[in-house]
Amino acid sequence: MKPEKITEGNLLADLIVASYNKMGCDALNIGAYDLSLGVDYLRKKEKSAKFPFLSANILDKHDKNIFLPSLIKTVDGVKVGIFGLCDDAIKLDKIPGGNKIKVVDPMDKAEEISAQLKKEGADYIVLLTTLNILNCRRIAQRGMPIDLIIGSSKKNRISLPILVQDTYIAHVERGGKSVGQLDVSFLGSAGVEALSSALRYKGKTVGDNIFLLNHFFPLKIAISDHPEIAPLVKTVEAKLSRLQQVKATRSMTMGGGSAAVLKPGNSYVFAEACAQCHPKKYQRWLQTPHAAAYKALIEQEKNFDEECIGCHTLGYEQPGGFTDIRQVGNYANVQCESCHGPGRLHIAAKGAEKMVKDLAKGEMCLVCHIEERSPEFDLETYFVKTCGAALPEK
Ligand code: HEC
Ligand code: HEC
Ligand code: HEC
Ligand code: HEC
Repeated sequence: MKPEKITEGNLLADLIVASYNKMGCDALNIGAYDLSLGVDYLRKKEKSAKFPFLSANILDKHDKNIFLPSLIKTVDGVKVGIFGLCDDAIKLDKIPGGNKIKVVDPMDKAEEISAQLKKEGADYIVLLTTLNILNCRRIAQRGMPIDLIIGSSKKNRISLPILVQDTYIAHVERGGKSVGQLDVSFLGSAGVEALSSALRYKGKTVGDNIFLLNHFFPLKIAISDHPEIAPLVKTVEAKLSRLQQVKATRSMTMGGGSAAVLKPGNSYVFAEACAQCHPKKYQRWLQTPHAAAYKALIEQEKNFDEECIGCHTLGYEQPGGFTDIRQVGNYANVQCESCHGPGRLHIAAKGAEKMVKDLAKGEMCLVCHIEERSPEFDLETYFVKTCGAALPEK
């Protein structure tokens, strides 16, 4: 996977966890999109979340749950059972570490978990799922004790809840574009008769005196941002737009990103080609772990792993780079051109054609040195260990 893609995913994951923490989220159902950086990655992220990640049907090879399958949350005396299911059509081969997991039939799991929650005394049962509307209907038609299914599959974007048998199904828009609200009313002696018939139709009585009503509200521009979450979003947006620039030019360029478009006639020439005129730099580079980054993968038998290749090689899926993971050839290791950009024109012009050299706060190091992979990264100490003698004054 391309390093920028990983950085991007990482930024978004951190943002989602940080803002859900602030919102006081109770549970998050795991879907295919959440798994794009891998199962291990997600489990690590869960540690920074103040809420559990749910999935009743993502299991390991020994049929053990990887995430919490369900929970019961008591709100004003109402016991709300919540469980999560993901679509079993999920493409496991596209997920880093996908070979270590399996996704079992959501129908069977829905049956099992909803019955179990009922037994544990849940008054209201909510299923969070990435299943499409058809499969949500199927679950409802089987008459399981599920009160509300909140779906969020790619294809269905209706947010008006529909009633199938005794289950409401709502498909919220993806990307956090709406909020749902569940109102709990305690009925007086008149019982449900005291409510208007329209309201009665939309809601549901539980036990003798509780009436539950579920609504969804689209989040319009007019609704103002949360004062603490808005700055988090702004920071991430700025970083993402910087990454977009990098992507539009080349991956590993340093600095503003403008000088580094793959010019006609330019291409990668690999580290040895630089040695002739920059022998000291070359000798020094040979001694850094960058020069052995591919070997590190071979030692772990991960050199054909899409999850690892991008940061341990040069130009993976970049213009002028390579795409076939089995044909790494000269692109092995983090090389001079991982940081300085392709050098053919520079060499042809005997140095007159400039290479990228601007460190710009080390953002380009951070493309690979992300928190998960390089928790100790510090520009000052790391930089002097690689190409530079000291940090350039800025
Ligand atoms: C034929 C000789 C030659 C080769 C081969 C060569 N360079 Fe250079 N390089 C130069 C010269 C000469 C300069 C100094 C230019 C200046 O000071 O104006 C230079 C400067 C640089 C700089 C400083 C920034 C700049 O562009 O002035 C970087 C970075 C650099 N080279 C990287 C590389 C890399 C990476 C390679 C291998 C892909 C490489 N060079 C191969 C001759 C070479
Ligand atoms: C996002 C970029 C990135 C990805 C993806 C990545 N690595 Fe790395 N890896 C790094 C960086 C950066 C370091 C250096 C960490 C440090 O020393 O600060 C590193 C260090 C290593 C090391 C040597 C240090 C150690 O921890 O023993 C090994 C081995 C390694 N990675 C293996 C892997 C494997 C296996 C994968 C795939 C599962 C992988 N890497 C995926 C960036 C990455
Ligand atoms: C990890 C990224 C990275 C790698 C790998 C790397 N460099 Fe650099 N190099 C830099 C940065 C950043 C600077 C600019 C420092 C500055 O602005 O003063 C630099 C500076 C240079 C310069 C300019 C002279 C100087 O010391 O400022 C030359 C020449 C150079 N590198 C050549 C190479 C060659 C040749 C290789 C491979 C053998 C290489 N670099 C590998 C990041 C890298
Ligand atoms: C293309 C991805 C990539 C880029 C860009 C990159 N690195 Fe690395 N870096 C790695 C990987 C991978 C390793 C681990 C290699 C290994 O141990 O096998 C590493 C290791 C290192 C180490 C050794 C850490 C240790 O354990 O001693 C230093 C220092 C370092 N990088 C500094 C930098 C700096 C500074 C920059 C930016 C100027 C940079 N790197 C840019 C991928 C990258």
